[in-house]
Amino acid sequence: MRVILIPGDGIGKEICESVKCINDVLYTPIVFEEYEAGAEYAEKSGKLFDDGLLDAIKDSKLALKGPTATPIGKGFQSINVQLRQYFHTYANVRPIRSLEGIKSRYENVDLVIFRENSEDLYLGVEMMKDENTAQAMKIITRHASNRIIKEAFQYAKKHHRKKVTCIHKANIMKMTDGLFLKEFQEVAQEYPDIVSEDCIVDAFCMKVVMNPKQFDVLVAPNLYGDIISDLCAGLVGGLGFAPSVNYGDEVRIYEAVHGSAPDIAGKDEANPTAILLSYGMLLEDIKEVEKANRLKEVIYELIKEGKEVTKDIGGTLSCSAYTNALIERLKRI
Ligand code: NAI
Repeated sequence: MRVILIPGDGIGKEICESVKCINDVLYTPIVFEEYEAGAEYAEKSGKLFDDGLLDAIKDSKLALKGPTATPIGKGFQSINVQLRQYFHTYANVRPIRSLEGIKSRYENVDLVIFRENSEDLYLGVEMMKDENTAQAMKIITRHASNRIIKEAFQYAKKHHRKKVTCIHKANIMKMTDGLFLKEFQEVAQEYPDIVSEDCIVDAFCMKVVMNPKQFDVLVAPNLYGDIISDLCAGLVGGLGFAPSVNYGDEVRIYEAVHGSAPDIAGKDEANPTAILLSYGMLLEDIKEVEKANRLKEVIYELIKEGKEVTKDIGGTLSCSAYTNALIERLKRI
C-alpha cells in the first residue's frame, strides 16, 4: 500500500526516519514514497513542494506528513493550508490522552477533538476598511458544520463514547455560531443513545481546566477547535505526544501536531512519539489494528518506565536510540 511521506523541515527527517524503521519492523503493507516539501526545499528549489506531490497524494489518498515551515516574506502560502484546501480535508481530529509517566496536571484524561478545518475565520478573508480598521469575515456553512458534527457523532458511536459536546459562542455570534449549534442539535437527534450537550467556549475553557474528565468527544468550528486543542494538550503534558489526522471524503493526511523544532534540528534529539502515534492512527485506519496496538503498547511502556526515553521528557536517549529501544521491545512482543 502506497503512502506518501513528507519529512518536511527541521526535525522532520529524523522523526520520519524513526517511522520508516518501525514500519520495517512491523512488516506492514505500507510502502512509503517520499516527497520533499517545506522551507528548506523552497530555499534550494524556489518551490514549496516537489512536482508530483499533489498528484501522488490524490492517487494514493494517504499521506504522513512531518512538520513544515513557511519561508517568511517570500510570498509563499503555508503548505498546511494549501494541502487542506486542495484536498478538502475538512476534519482535523486530535485525540488527547494522558500517558502514564508524563508529568501533567491530570491523569486518565481521554478526549477526542473534532475541529472543522475548512472555513470560519481561517478562510483568511480579511481587508483593511481604512488605515485604522481591519476586518475579517467569519463564514460558517450548514454543509461544513453538518459533516464535522456527523463525524463526531459517528466516531462516538463506533468507539462507544458516551457524550459529544459542541463548543461555540452562539450567545454572541448568533448567526454563525448559531448555525453551527442549530446543526449540532439537529444531528444529535439522530443519535439518541449518545448524550449531547453544548458549551460556550469561554465557559468550556474554565470547565476543562477544572475537570477535564467531564468531557468526552468535542466538536467545534475551526478557530475554537484550534485553541481548545492546544489547551487540552497542555492538560496532559503538552504537544509532544499529540497525533492528528486531517481528512476529507477522499484523502487522509496524518501528522504530529508539533512544529519543525529548528532549535534541535539535525542533533538527533527529537522525540518521534507524536509522529509515531499519528502513524499508529494510520495503521488503525487501514485495519492494521493489531500492529497499531503493539506499537502503542511499547510506546506507553517505555514512557511509563521513564528510562529509555528522549531528553525532552527527562531521558537521555537520542531519537535514533529511542527508536532502537522501541524496536527491541516490538521484537519481544
Ligand atoms: P515547535 O513545535 O517546532 O517547537 C516548540 C518547542 O518544542 C521547541 O523548543 C522544540 O525544540 C520543542 N519540540 C517540538 N517538537 C519536538 C519533538 N518532537 N521533540 C522534542 N522537542 C520538540 O514550534 P515553533 O518553534 O513555534 O515552530 C517552528 C516551526 O515549525 C515554524 O516554522 C512553524 O511554522 C512550524 N510549524 C509547523 C507545523 C506543521 O507543519 N504542522 C505545526 C507547528 C509549527
